[in-house]
Order: sequence, then C-alpha cells, then structure tokens
Amino acid sequence: MDFQIASKAVKDVACDALVVGAARAKKAGQDAKEVVLSETAKAVDTVLGGLITRICADGEFKGSLGEMATVYTMGKLAARRVVVVGLGTLEALNAQALRKASAIAARHLQQTGAHQIALALSWEDAAIEAESGAQAQVEGTLLGLYTFKKYQKSDDNGNGSGITKTWLISSGKANQNTLEQGIRRGSALAEAANFARDLVNEPPNVLTPTELANRANTMAKQSGLECEILDRPQMQELGMGGLLGVAQGSAEPPKFIILRYHGAPKSSEKGMALVGKGITFDSGGISLKPGEGMEKMKGDMAGAAAVIGAMQAIAALKPKVNVTALVSTTENMPSGTAYRPGDILRIMNGKTIEIVNTDAEGRLVLADALSYAAKEGLSPIIDVATLTGAVVVALGNTMAGVFSNDAQLTDEIIAAGKSAGEKFWPMPMDEEYGEQIKSEVADIKQTGGRGAGSVTAAKILEHFVGDAKWAHLDIAGTSFVDSKKPHQEMGATGMAVRTLAELAVRMGK
Ligand code: BES
Ligand code: MN
Ligand code: ZN
Repeated sequence: MDFQIASKAVKDVACDALVVGAARAKKAGQDAKEVVLSETAKAVDTVLGGLITRICADGEFKGSLGEMATVYTMGKLAARRVVVVGLGTLEALNAQALRKASAIAARHLQQTGAHQIALALSWEDAAIEAESGAQAQVEGTLLGLYTFKKYQKSDDNGNGSGITKTWLISSGKANQNTLEQGIRRGSALAEAANFARDLVNEPPNVLTPTELANRANTMAKQSGLECEILDRPQMQELGMGGLLGVAQGSAEPPKFIILRYHGAPKSSEKGMALVGKGITFDSGGISLKPGEGMEKMKGDMAGAAAVIGAMQAIAALKPKVNVTALVSTTENMPSGTAYRPGDILRIMNGKTIEIVNTDAEGRLVLADALSYAAKEGLSPIIDVATLTGAVVVALGNTMAGVFSNDAQLTDEIIAAGKSAGEKFWPMPMDEEYGEQIKSEVADIKQTGGRGAGSVTAAKILEHFVGDAKWAHLDIAGTSFVDSKKPHQEMGATGMAVRTLAELAVRMGK
C-alpha cells in the first residue's frame, strides 16, 4: 500500500472515493443528536451544494462511530464518490476512533471496488495531534484491509486487487515531516501486527515450531535483529525441563527462539525481555481436549507471534532501549512418548513442578523462558500467552488480563495499550492464591483447581522471574475473533504487538 500526503485542495484530489468525517455533537449548548462536520467535510459539502448537510438533517446519518453514507459527486469533485463516516461523539473523539473509522471505511471501499482512496479524518478541534492523526488513519487502514486468503483459489471475496493507494488529506497547516512520521509509525505498527496475524492464521501443519523459528529468523535478517535458535541438545544442556517435557510427545522438534535488538548499545542496562508462548498446536496432550473447537488451538502461539511481531516494529521504530525476545515453541501432542499427569518436571531455574493436567502446558514452556530471561538479568520481563480459558471467562474477548509483581509496570502497560488501541485490565496476584498451587511431592503443583484459574497460572509463572520486574499478559480471549467485524477480519487480531512496541518506544525516551 502506498500512502501519500495530498498537496491539492480536497475537491481536486482524484480518487475512487474520498472519506470525510462527521461526529455527534455533545458540547454545551449543542443538541446531542446534531451532527457536526469536520472542516474538510464542510468544504466538500459546499461543493456538493449542501448534500451532506441534507443527509444529516433528514436523519439518515447520525454520526455514530463507523456509520457510513455515500454520495456520488457527478463531476463536482475529482473524487468519484464521497463516503461520510461517523466518528462517534465529539467528546470521545480520539486516535482509536480514527483508527476504527478508517478501518471500517477502507474495508467497505475495498469490498465495493475502490482502488485509490483519500482519507480526510483528522479533526482540528479534537485533542489529536497531527502525527497521531495520520498514524491512526494509516494503522486503521492497514489493519482493516488485512485478510488471510492464501489457501483459497477464488480472489473475488473482497480480496481483489484491492486498494493500492491512499491519499491523506491533512486538516489545516500540519507540517509535512510530522505527517510523514505518522505514516511511518502507523505502517510499521500495522505491518508488524499483520505479520503476527499471518503467523497465527497459518495452519498448524505449515506453522510448526521449525517454521515459526524460520520465519522469526527471516524477519530478523530483514530487520537487522540478531537471531539465535536453540535446538533440543542445547535445551538439554540448559536444563529446560518444561519445554522438553511438553515437546516429548510430538514428532516435531521444539525450538527456543532468541531475538536481540540493541537500541542502547552503550547502556549497562540489559534491557527488557519479551517472552512468548509458542504452542503451534495444543491438543491438550494425554489430557486431551474435547474435539469441538480444537482447530482454534493452532492459535496457541499468539503470544509468540505478538513478541516476534513487536520485535519487527521495534526494529523499525528504533527506540533507545535494549530488547530481547525469548520464545519457547513446541506442539502439545498425545503419544506413547508424551509427558503424563503424575510426572515431575525440573525447570531451568531448578524448581520442580508436579504435572496434574498435560493441557496446562503453557506455564511449563514459559517457566523455562522466564528462567532464561531472569538468568540473563533482563528487566522488566513481559510475557505474552494464550494461557487460560479462565481469563476468557473473566474478561471475555474485549480485554486481556495483566498479572504483575509491579504496580507501576501494570500502569505503564495499560497506558501504552490505551494509546495503541488495545485494552488490558489489572488482575490480582495476592499471596493467598499461592496456597492453591502447593504440592506434596514437588516444589509447585501445575494447576490450582477450579477457582481463579488465570491467577493461579500467573502465580506459577511468578516462581521463575527471580528479582526482575515482571508482567504476564493473558491474551487467550483477545488474540482471535470467531467472526468478521466491520473493522476487522475474522481470525487473528495481532493482540499486544502494538502495545509492546509502544511500551518499548516509551521506555526509550
Ligand atoms: N491454550 C489453552 C488456553 C486457551 C483456552 C487458549 C481458550 C485460547 C482459548 C491452555 O493451554 C489450556 O489448555 N489451559 C487450560 C488449563 C487448565 C487445564 C488448568 C484451561 O484453561 O482450560
Ligand atoms: Mn493447553
Ligand atoms: Zn495452550
């Protein structure tokens, strides 16, 4: 996709469709039902002889977020049609509203035959700076247009040749460099998220642990990151009993992926660790999952995809901070060589875990990766995992849980998520929950029974982070959507990629 800042007046920008914004008024003295047009929308309305004003006045268009009305210009503008898109209430108008509106408009236009579009959604009055306005529109467009159709022959279900060019029309006198910076940031973040989505959407027969390692390696080469892949013998040497235990039932060899970004080479700080759960298929193992919905367990490497995607974005954005990504990747399969309930595994830091359910494999492979991060002296450590069904019960598909030993880090993650457009909610880590994972035969028991399942999973992870500041993001409910949305294709969402990149950028300041 080619993004370019339009230098012509809005009425002279030649394209298949021009998208302008309109919001619901909710300012003192204004009727909440009144629709307000952006400056660009007003200019277009004038050229069209008041057509947009009329549509709003008649109640056909109300300005709700993502609502659309199309008018054909019949030669009055260089654009063939104008799409008025709703931005929601003026009070709530932020970068996320622009992202969502851009995504919805771009998807709609892609499906209705447009190739060249122009976006004019920046809003002078709203508290959105020119750079984040441009960034949000670019990000929204690229995230909205994402599809995963490489295994389908037919190309006519909205994929087509699609939109290849997007003009950005700035409101007012925003500086060209500022807008271009916004385009670069938006592209870097969306492309990284879409890369992660591809990894998650790939079927598990294609995206094996070996293939995940290969793709991480290719990305690292292209992005100028260091990449090291550990094989079974090296895992044995390091004592990674969690990863090796889970992997022993699979015919696919496990991999441990290490990516390094040196943004502050002179700093004595080792920097941040991003740790990902990379189960390329989770059958549950001997504690086999029910058949229904098991195909979705190809997405059990979404945490790994998030950290690998975040590394791509970080390499592009170049914050002055050191970041290491660590990914444990394997399948979880039942077989004659599989690990069993009753087994006791020894993790890299020496602690033992009593296995009670082989479907609770994520915490085991993460335990080794967290031990590795702690041993390297990395801090903060942030792990990302599709860890528990329990977090889906608690927070649904809207928010991911944050579990941490540091309240400030929790706040920073939530704030970075807010600006990136991804929602996180703090979860408790009180000591009492530790009671549930006491074992009679090992240092820790693998699961904590029925109550607070996402918390007891996090309490296990806490045993492996040493003295580091640490946060665990459980994205089991937010990494995958079962149905198409106006702003989003079904399947992988790329959850946490943009938040982690934003966090690295903030830490580098
Ligand atoms: N990968 C699953 C968690 C999951 C559930 C991810 C739904 C995405 C959607 C994880 O490995 C798992 O099976 N967890 C078990 C743990 C239990 C056995 C203690 C669960 O949540 O049921
Ligand atoms: Mn499982
Ligand atoms: Zn799993």
